[in-house]
Formats: sequence, structure tokens, C-alpha cells
Amino acid sequence: MYQSPRGTQDILPEDAAVWRYVEQRAAEQARRFGYGEIRTPTFEDVGLFLRGVGSGTDIVDKEIYRFQDKGGSELALRPEATASVMRAYLERGLASRPQPVKLYSLINLFRYDRPQAGRYREFRQFNVEAIGEEDPLSDAEVIAILWRFLEELGLRGLDVLLNSIGDKVCRPGFIQALVEYYRPRVDEICADCRRRLETNPLRLLDCKNARCQPIADGAPKTIDHLCADCAAHFDRLRGYLQAIKLPYTITPRLVRGLDYYTRTVFEVVPPIVGGQSTIGGGGRYDGLAEEIGGKPTPGVGFAAGLDRIIMNLREQGCPLPASEVPDAFFACLGDDAKHCAVMLADRLRREGMAAVVGMGDRSLKARFRQAEASGAPWTIILGENELREQAAQVKNGLTGEQARVPFPDLVLHVTGALPSEAPTT
Ligand code: HAM
Repeated sequence: MYQSPRGTQDILPEDAAVWRYVEQRAAEQARRFGYGEIRTPTFEDVGLFLRGVGSGTDIVDKEIYRFQDKGGSELALRPEATASVMRAYLERGLASRPQPVKLYSLINLFRYDRPQAGRYREFRQFNVEAIGEEDPLSDAEVIAILWRFLEELGLRGLDVLLNSIGDKVCRPGFIQALVEYYRPRVDEICADCRRRLETNPLRLLDCKNARCQPIADGAPKTIDHLCADCAAHFDRLRGYLQAIKLPYTITPRLVRGLDYYTRTVFEVVPPIVGGQSTIGGGGRYDGLAEEIGGKPTPGVGFAAGLDRIIMNLREQGCPLPASEVPDAFFACLGDDAKHCAVMLADRLRREGMAAVVGMGDRSLKARFRQAEASGAPWTIILGENELREQAAQVKNGLTGEQARVPFPDLVLHVTGALPSEAPTT
């Protein structure tokens, strides 16, 4: 017996109804803000992620699914969407369209992560990008999409953590101050932090190790080192968020796990904060286009983990759609009855109803069990008598009502509407 690969999931029909609902809410929110859908390939040239996300990040160093295809190309399953969307923007000439180009996707991604609740090796994101605009209004807009999406799903107690990590003008000065702060404390920090101090000092602020917490808390803050342009950008962003009463918490230690961020970074966390709790995160990436070989192009966006959103919706008892059931179940005795049911079911389906015909040879008792298990409100019983009289026994499971309905009246009886064409039997 094969099993699904570790860290992957099978989404069964009852769960798929919930997934479809959440994805529809995401697409609807994107539509309200004027974002169009983009679908990019599941795999890309591995170099796109090495350059875009950055070697030195966990996503690239530890988690990327990398392979060589039969033609010798070095490829990777996408571990995130932003680099692909920027690649598509540059490659497809989207810079010549009105800016910003506003794009969203609902996609699966792959990271060789340690699987646990809310952390998978194949997972799904609602990804949103606004490319080609520096205006902090675009930062506010993507944060608003994420917030309204989660709010309308009914999630409560969420917090938007917000920070600005500066740009290529002010970041070097901040990094220097950070390194100067950490150097004398090098014996007090964990091994990972000692490595970060040499390779990626910004990530020192992100350490989860208990002994590093007081040191990280006392470290210099990015927002105290912003240049005038970055500070003004951040102030204007905050003004737009306040205008729509979107709550946020300035979080000076917030940095993100991908290298492309400049200025704005943000995350949305649920009330009980744990290791895998971040529901969504994003920020501005004004240097990404150049990093992957394009012209300088600003951009901002976020991705929300759909697996984690659904987990939180269930934990908080938010309203979710029930799994779909057919409208009518045909319980027939004998092959002639089944033949007739096939035609009658076809008629119902052409009227838009979901009709299921019981299969196999079964007793009437077993048929009723099948009907009940299907969850269909209508059970349509067909046996020898019904065929002779050209009328079915129709039972409404919701009201308990039972009626004898001539075949030509069946559609009308169960839909309450006139059929779109004249019956043929
Ligand atoms: P990220 O923070 O790596 O950002 O991922 C965004 C969200 O994806 C996370 O907050 C989490 O909900 C979900 N996620 C990440 N890894 C896993 C996993 N292994 N299992 C389940 N869910 C996971 C990005 O991906 C950036 N591309 C976001 C972005 C878009 N920034 C700008 N534009």
C-alpha cells in the first residue's frame, strides 16, 4: 500500500467544499480591489529563487525541492509565488500596462519543511502582488485585502504586526548598528545567531531561542534608523491604515524570512501565538526585479496560508459550508426501473439539479439506506408498480411528505419550476 508523501494532504469532498468557499472569498476580495488572477508555472528555473528569495534563507538553503529534468535544466518546485509573479511581469512586458499591475493567485507551493499542524511540504496560499508602484497606498491596499478577507471569513482576535526595515540607503547603517550591538554579546547568543551575525544579521531579530530573546529585545530598532524617504513612506502608510480603521501593532523586531523585502513588512497572527501560527505575511520588495535581472521595479504584496486559515476557522468555530449533497436520490428495484431512473435523472440534471441513481442490485431496504447515506432531501422510488403506472413514489426527507408523482410532473414537483423543455416520456 502506498501512502501520500510526508507533509502532503488529500483534500476529500467534504473538506473541498470548505476550500472552495475560502478560495472564493479570497478571489472576491481581490476583485473588490481591482486585482486580476495570474497563474504561473508550478516549477521554475531554480536560479529565480536562489536570486529572488536569496541563498542564505531557510527557504532556499534547506527547503527547496530542486531537481534536474531529462534535458538537464536545473528546476525547482515553487516554494513561494512572488519571484514567479515578478518574473512573469518582466518577461511578459507588463511594465507597459497601466501601473501598478495588480495580481492575485490561489496556488500550491512546496517547501521541505518539518511537517506538523499547519506546516506542510505542499501547502496553499492566497498570494497578492501590486507591481510597479512605490506609493504607500499600494502597501495599505494589500494589507487591507488580507485584513478584510480574514475579517469577512469571521476570524477574530487577529493582529497585524507592522514594521519598516528601510531600503538600500538606510539599511546598511542599521545593519552596522545591529552588528556593533551583537558583537560584544556573541558568547550569550545561540549557535544559529552566531551564524546569522556573519551571514544575515537582520535575521538576528527573528530568533525564537529563549536565551536570545532579551538580547534581541534590547537591539537597535529598524524604525529608529530609517532615512527620511523611508520614514515618510511608513508614516503615509500608517495614515492610510488609520483612515480605514485597520488595527495594527508596530513590531520593531519584525523581519521576514525572505531576502527581497525593503521598507514595509507585515504579518497577521492569530490570538494564540505559536511557532507555526502566522496566517499571512508580506511586504515591499523594491529590489527584487533588479535582483532577477530586470529593470528597477517597485512592488508590494502578501501571501496568506490557506491551510492555516482553514485550521483557524475550525478552531474558532466560524461558519463553514456543509458538504454538498445531491438534491434527489433514485431508489430503484430491478433493471427496468434503473433504466427509467437514468432518463428521469437526466431530466432533473438538465434542470440544474443534482440527481444520483443508486447502483448495483440491492433490496429496497438497502436502497433506502443508500438514499439516506446520500443526504439527498428527495428520494424517488421506482419499482414494477411505478413503471406500470408511469408515476414515481416521491418522498421529501425534510418534511416527511410522500406523494405519487406522474413522470411528466417529476421535474416540476421536485424543482417547483417548469421544465425548460417538454417531457418525452
Ligand atoms: P511566507 O511568509 O514565506 O511569505 O509565507 C506566507 C504564508 O504562507 C505564511 O504566513 C503561512 O501562512 C503560509 N506557509 C508558509 N509555509 C508554510 C508551510 N510549510 N505549510 C503551511 N503554510 C505555510 C511568502 O511566501 C511571500 N512570497 C509572501 C509575499 C508575497 N511577500 C510579498 N508578496
